[in-house]
This record gives sequence, C-alpha cells and structure tokens, in this order.
Amino acid sequence: MEALPVDPSSARAPDLARAVAALRRGGLVAFPTETVYGLGADATLPGALRRLYAVKGRPPAHPVIVHLGGADQLTGWARDVPDAARALTDACWPGPLTVIVRRSARVPDEVTGGADTVGLRVPDQPLALALLHQFGDGIAAPSANRFGRVSPTTAQAVVDDLGTDVDVVLDGGPCRVGVESTIVDCTGAQPAVLRPGGVTAARLREILGTDVPVVSGSTVAAPGTLPSHYAPRASVVLATREDAGARATAALDDGRHVAVLCESPSPDLPPAVVWLDAGCDADDYARNLYARLREADARKVDLLLAIPPVSTGLGQAVADRLRRAAGARQHVEAR
Ligand code: TXA
Ligand code: MG
Repeated sequence: MEALPVDPSSARAPDLARAVAALRRGGLVAFPTETVYGLGADATLPGALRRLYAVKGRPPAHPVIVHLGGADQLTGWARDVPDAARALTDACWPGPLTVIVRRSARVPDEVTGGADTVGLRVPDQPLALALLHQFGDGIAAPSANRFGRVSPTTAQAVVDDLGTDVDVVLDGGPCRVGVESTIVDCTGAQPAVLRPGGVTAARLREILGTDVPVVSGSTVAAPGTLPSHYAPRASVVLATREDAGARATAALDDGRHVAVLCESPSPDLPPAVVWLDAGCDADDYARNLYARLREADARKVDLLLAIPPVSTGLGQAVADRLRRAAGARQHVEAR
C-alpha cells in the first residue's frame, strides 16, 4: 500500500475520487486530520464498520467518532443538541473538538458500541474536509493505528502500521496539532471532558464561562481513556529534569538501551543515552510526541524516560498521553 500524495494537484482529484469510491463500497480510507490520521469507513454501513473494528483490533463495544463536513450535519446524527454542545461546536468547529450527544435513529449500533450517545466532530484539515464534502455524509474514524498503539501523525506511519489492510491512504503531510481531539460529554447535567486534547481547558472555560471538569473512569467504554494506551514497545516511565540523569545511568548499568524525551535543551545525560527532542514548548511537544514514540521503537529503545511539559495549554493532553503510554508499567518500574 503506497500513500497517495495530496499534491501535485493532478493527483488530487483522482485520489479523492478513489477514496470516495472505496468508502461507498464499504472500504477503509486513511485520511489526515489536524490531530492525527483517521481510519475512515462509511458511518452508515454496518459491514464497513465491522471491518474497521477488525482491522483496528478494537473490541466491538468501544464507540468511534463520526466525522462530519460541517456543523449543518449535526442534527442528522444527534437527536438532541444541548446549548453547551451548540456553543462548543459554534466556537470550535472545524477543529479538534469532539462532542458526545444523544444519537439519532440513523446511527448504527456499530458506531456507538450500542450506547445511546454518539461522538461527532468536524476536523480542520483541508484534505479531510474535501473528502467529507465529496462523500457527503458521516465518516466513522478512529485513529489509524492498531488498538492500544501509538496514533499516526504521518501517512507513512499509517502504512507502516496497517499496510494492505487499508484500501486508500490520503497523504496530507504531518498533522498540525499532533494529539487527538478534546472529547466533551454534553449528555449530562454539566459538560465534562472525557479526554483532554487539541482544544485547551482555558479555551473551554472561555466558551462556556466555567471550568469543565475532566472525568476519568467514565461508565462509557472509551479506549483512549484506558489506563494503558497510546503505548510504544519501549517501557515508558515519567521522569523529571532533576532525576532523569540518575535514572538513565542506573538503567544503562542494567544493560538497557535508554532514551529521554523532553523539550530542548536536553538535561545533562550520559553520552550513551538517546535524546528525543520534543521541541521548544508544549505545542511542539504535542506535534512531535507520537513521532518520537515511534522513533524510540525504531531505535530499539528499552526504556524511555519521558519528562512531561508544563500541564497548561496542550501540555495537559501531552501529559495525559504520556501517563497512559506509561500505563501499568509505571507502577512496576516505580517499585
Ligand atoms: O482527534 C481525534 O479525535 C482522532 C481523529 C482521527 O479524529 N480520532 C480519535 O479516535 O482519536 P479514537 O477512536 O482513537 O478515539 C476516540 C475516543 C475513544 O476513546 C472513544 O471511546 C471515544 O472517543 N468515544 C467515541 N464515541 C463515544 C461515545 N459515544 N461516548 C464516549 N466516548 C466516545
Ligand atoms: Mg486512538
């Protein structure tokens, strides 16, 4: 499976036409969004959705987000749009925000895992929007990686992970945001964040005029909220600028291949340690995060010491993903 380029323009229209045709016959199309690449299927075709779950290796009870070409399609997929959801979508769409709302009758059970709610979002990426507009209806799309693994932020990462299991891969270059959308559950008395992401807590507060709590342990099956997810093969352990050097030295002494992921400049590290540069600030960190986790695997790192960014702005989402990448292993390493 080769990735199709978004440019040159001569290739663009046929690529989109191929992608739309693949979706219509129940195929799978990987496409860029501003957050991460999605693995798309026609959200109205149960057979296509079953194939999507099979390729992802995702348990069937876990719901997927339906991507729309515009907010005008919201009412076709939701039977009730609370004021908070409307305020959020007016302010953030197209953009890295997913709202959870009550589903309409046309939403197949395969999209929602049988739940009465549906996650909807309009991505802010020209190729994604062109695809959605030409297709003309909702595209169900989880991140285009196998279940539990690192999300792809380039077309090549999709091809590396999914190979020929995907029918068309649209290449829109590297993703601009780099971490997934913020998921806001708008079905309760108060909106709640199920997953921090590309829309910051400060922006949500600005829109709704109040802090929006982050809830964990939601009753809804949400794989992105499982304690161990977004994980490379290397063991990920959270560290600080102060303790990274000593921890790295101890691991080297144990014969392990060690990397440190953090913003530049790098802290003082033994020369044998691989430094994975996350960039200059939290936005860079978000954009680079998944590529660096993949790089750790490509370089056969055993132990990845990750120093999270400040947890404001996109740093909150990065810290969340690093904690989940560390997952259960964190406690093992800490013992
Ligand atoms: O940025 C993103 O959101 C990317 C791009 C491709 O749009 N998509 C993405 O999809 O991250 P996925 O499937 O990897 O993560 C979607 C998360 C999952 O944790 C899923 O359980 C949750 O959204 N979700 C979807 N529908 C839901 C629902 N009805 N209720 C609660 N959680 C839901
Ligand atoms: Mg995912």
